[in-house]
Amino acid sequence: MFYDDTLSFDYYNPTRLVFGNKAIQDTGAEIDSLGGKRVLIVTDKGVREAGLTDPVEKALGNRCVGIYDGCIQDSGVHIVDEGAAIAREKEVDALVSVGGGSVIDTAKCMAVLITEGGKLDDYEGFQLLDRLQAPHVAIPTTAGTGSEATYVAIVKDWEHSVKKMIVDSNIIPRVAILDPMMTVNLPPDLTATTGMDAFTHGVEAIHSLQAAPISDAMALHAIRLIKKNLPDCVNNGKDVGSRGQQLIASYMAGVAFGNAQVGLVHALAHSLGALFGIPHGKANSIVLPHVMKFNLDKCPEKYALIAEALGLEIANMSSMEAARLAVEDIQEMTKSLGIPQTLRECEVPRDKLEEVALQSLSDGSIVYNPKFAMDIDLVLPVLEEAW
Ligand SMILES: [Fe+2]
Repeated sequence: MFYDDTLSFDYYNPTRLVFGNKAIQDTGAEIDSLGGKRVLIVTDKGVREAGLTDPVEKALGNRCVGIYDGCIQDSGVHIVDEGAAIAREKEVDALVSVGGGSVIDTAKCMAVLITEGGKLDDYEGFQLLDRLQAPHVAIPTTAGTGSEATYVAIVKDWEHSVKKMIVDSNIIPRVAILDPMMTVNLPPDLTATTGMDAFTHGVEAIHSLQAAPISDAMALHAIRLIKKNLPDCVNNGKDVGSRGQQLIASYMAGVAFGNAQVGLVHALAHSLGALFGIPHGKANSIVLPHVMKFNLDKCPEKYALIAEALGLEIANMSSMEAARLAVEDIQEMTKSLGIPQTLRECEVPRDKLEEVALQSLSDGSIVYNPKFAMDIDLVLPVLEEAW
């Protein structure tokens, strides 16, 4: 049984989705429908230099009053402050983010400072805002974070090497524009690791204590699409069809975990990112099979569903056998995508694993893990395995 008699959940997905090749041409019209008059494009230098903001700027026409390109990987509180100061100076009333998860999360936080004023610290936590924030249209240039569909923004406090989380339904982007053309030039390694972030969202939404039928459906189809399309995206980046399917999968996995939450994989990946700068998707990809093994006895039926979505032959197997096969298949998949398999390869010092484990214990995601994990003696062996 996937859900017991006490099942209760709410499901929320307010983002309007616009999908298609050259869908970004609609950016101006989408901003108009939100009442935006003065738009700031939020991005990073790499995305801007790759020319990806040009068509967005063109589509916005004179609605665009500037571009803030100061976002960085693991964007920071200081970046949000800087971007928001520029937005205020230019009297911006709407944002269009063009980039990966860091950029979209930065824009979510900037929208809060534009709307509410004050400091980001004032809003760190769960559901502290009581009104919708400045309109934000998100245009992802990677297909992994699903941030265009979620109510979470994560930025790093660089001074203290911790990640800060704002979790609030009022920061969900109003519109997500998924245009495969925006992802065709993403290099194979980034395509693989960000793609595995989306895959991890699918798995973690399914094994979450807060999993429910609708999020499960979204997550399982995301897993199907990723298994089928991510290898093509990595091996032939210009394959617009696969890129599009991967973008849709990333969005669906985002909606799934935005409702169901994530678990121990993300708690560990957040710590590995904060302490050692390991890119989020790469950290997830390495840790995922080890967390699944840790969880195995708690949710074999759920993992058997994942095996089915992966297209594995499980007809004559028990749930546990199918679950084990799913874990093996995922490990094979990440290997064939060229993603490192161990934390050792990412130069995480073995004697720092305890610090990673300790930090993960206070991460908000860990409470949704299907198996109790809030104990260093439980988490450390998982990290040792992944090392
Ligand atoms: Fe993630």
